[in-house]
Amino acid sequence: MTDTAIEIQNLVKYYKDFKALDGISFSVKKGEFFGFLGPNGAGKTTSISIITGLCNLTSGSVKVFGHDVVKEYRQARPLIGLSPQDFNFDPFLSAREVLIFQAGYYGVPRKKCKARAEEMIEMFDLGQVYKLDYRSLSGGQKRRLSLARALMHQPPILILDEPTAGVDIELRHFLWDFLADLNRKGTTILLTTHYLEEAEKLCDRIGVINKGQIVKLENKDKLIRSMAKDTIHIRIGTPWQEFNWLKEFQYQREEETGRISFFENKENLSKILKHFYDSKSEVIDLEIEETTLEDVFLQLTQKKQ
Ligand SMILES: Nc1ncnc2c1ncn2[C@@H]1O[C@H](COP(=O)(O)OP(=O)(O)OP(=O)(O)O)[C@@H](O)[C@H]1O
Ligand SMILES: [Mg+2]
Repeated sequence: MTDTAIEIQNLVKYYKDFKALDGISFSVKKGEFFGFLGPNGAGKTTSISIITGLCNLTSGSVKVFGHDVVKEYRQARPLIGLSPQDFNFDPFLSAREVLIFQAGYYGVPRKKCKARAEEMIEMFDLGQVYKLDYRSLSGGQKRRLSLARALMHQPPILILDEPTAGVDIELRHFLWDFLADLNRKGTTILLTTHYLEEAEKLCDRIGVINKGQIVKLENKDKLIRSMAKDTIHIRIGTPWQEFNWLKEFQYQREEETGRISFFENKENLSKILKHFYDSKSEVIDLEIEETTLEDVFLQLTQKKQ
């Protein structure tokens, strides 16, 4: 097996005349937790549908652990567990049957399917509902069932298309811990989400897609750092002077409050403090406003509008 879990090259997708994917290329490394972010309609679900063979590509190629998703569909597809954005359970099956059928579909022996289904029911707390028709499941239960179903055949790659959309805080935290643990144990995960806090917490690398194009692909911390514009607010207890060293920095001083705001990354904090110290100014208050992934995301996607 190669060390690349998913490799996408120059992928183009047209829906009739509409170009939904405009030549995207990126790969997801084995063992990675990859965040695939972008505004509504950017092309995330389309990409996922192509990776999982649910939708045809127009041109380009996608490989899953070296297997072409079109030419080697049979080898590629079982390597992925998918929890789709929209629920697509057979309305005539119980939750338990959904799980057993899924594993059977991927060739897991019947006895093993049943044991695994019990394990998943226990893990995702579906014990109260497994005898019921899936139509009576709550939104949160459906999300849990969708994840359980994706994991039934123990795939090396898990793709989650907005797994925490509309779930309550308790379940969201459970899912975060669960996914982080699964990834630590070796499962490669590709996740789309509109909760940037989620991507910030879980992902190693982040790809941002906008209007069918990848606009940024970077290690999460690097992405934030490269676009970061932290602000360091300082108040001094000694009289204000226009020190010469201030020219090195971008700053603004509010006359009324005496607050000095440095538009500098927090890496420069000790440098700034040392200058104040050397010029015998007493720093009496300090506050840092850090850039978040949300700020970065807005910068990236709005620029292209
Ligand atoms: N079956 C289809 N037929 C025609 N157009 C489609 C089809 N599916 C998606 N599209 C269009 O392709 C574009 C990308 O849609 P896609 O569902 O991939 O976006 P997304 O990034 O998943 O968005 P969201 O965050 O809203 O889920 C959108 O403009 C959408 O309207
Ligand atoms: Mg989508």
